[in-house]
Amino acid sequence: MKLYSRITGTGSYLPPRRLTNADLVAELAAQGVETTDDWIVERTGIRARHFAAPNVSSSDLGLEAARNALQAAGVLPQEIDLIIVATSTPDMVFPSTACILQNKLGANGSTAFDVQAVCSGFVYALTLADAMIKSGAAKKALVIGAEVFSRILDFKDRTTCVLFGDGAGAVVLEASETPGILASDLHADGKYVGILCVPGHVSGGQVLGNPLLKMDGQAVFKLAVGLLDEAARVTLAKAGKTAADIDWLLPHQANIRIMQSTARKLKMPMDKVIVTVDQHGNTSAASIPLALDTAVRSGQVKPGELLLLEAVGGGFTWGAVLLTL
Ligand code: UT7
Repeated sequence: MKLYSRITGTGSYLPPRRLTNADLVAELAAQGVETTDDWIVERTGIRARHFAAPNVSSSDLGLEAARNALQAAGVLPQEIDLIIVATSTPDMVFPSTACILQNKLGANGSTAFDVQAVCSGFVYALTLADAMIKSGAAKKALVIGAEVFSRILDFKDRTTCVLFGDGAGAVVLEASETPGILASDLHADGKYVGILCVPGHVSGGQVLGNPLLKMDGQAVFKLAVGLLDEAARVTLAKAGKTAADIDWLLPHQANIRIMQSTARKLKMPMDKVIVTVDQHGNTSAASIPLALDTAVRSGQVKPGELLLLEAVGGGFTWGAVLLTL
């Protein structure tokens, strides 16, 4: 009998501090940085984002999302044998955020590690968990995207600091005789390291280099549209499906204009695209599971529907996952 992995529960968590564009514009103006609600909405579709309190880390946000996903799946922490956390804003240099979260959750003894693929982190982590379940290495996995991007933003750089937010999303992925995850496609091209990066690093007790996010937005935008389209087509072909079969396109929530271009290329109407970027901003690896949980809990997405998840991010990394919920 063929073995699949299937999502049996979703969860998410947003830190309580919500900043509308107007709130952020006012805060930035006080520091001499000029931007407007109109610019942010027109160029990105973002209207609000959440920022975590200074003492709250990615493992804290991920923990809440994981608890919600476990509750939805009816699974206890002790039953989990694999935890993968996708994050670019880990609690520490080491150990992994997954190990820290595992202990807080009380799932001690499971396999636990982080995946670093920036905004593509969740599709990378989900693909890994799927492979481990299909191989028999795991049976019940928690796949989590958790970020505190507000910690690595340069609030003097208006071209980036208005784009990102904090949050977490999680899924419980279980071995199943019914599909499940149908196909995925992952790629990276390291020659683009410089267009989206946080170049700083720890050395000799100091942070060397700039520890804040740098992005060539236009270069990222141009690459993203082509690569997302390619990943979508390859993933669909692997499962013998076409774009017409998809109930919902769930893109990484970075910019509404990138989502519109991707949908247009796949000839999908925007009412089949899950959009939360307006309320969450870009939460990097958390954006897809956060949007998925939002859509599941609102009743927008229903069991049995076909979803195409797709993401691009620093690295440059990109990929897609096709699944039946
Ligand atoms: O999650 C990883 C993936 N990341 C992304 O997907 C990001 C991809 N890139 C983008 O989303 C877009 O390129 C941005 C939203 C970052 C920028 O939008 P754009 O339409 O490419 O704007 P631009 O960089 O061409 O800038 C246009 C103008 C510039 O002024 P001038 O040179 O035309 O006078 C900027 O200085 O907008 C100005 N500008 C701003 N103005 C007000 C840039 N940022 C701001 C701002 N407020 N926050």
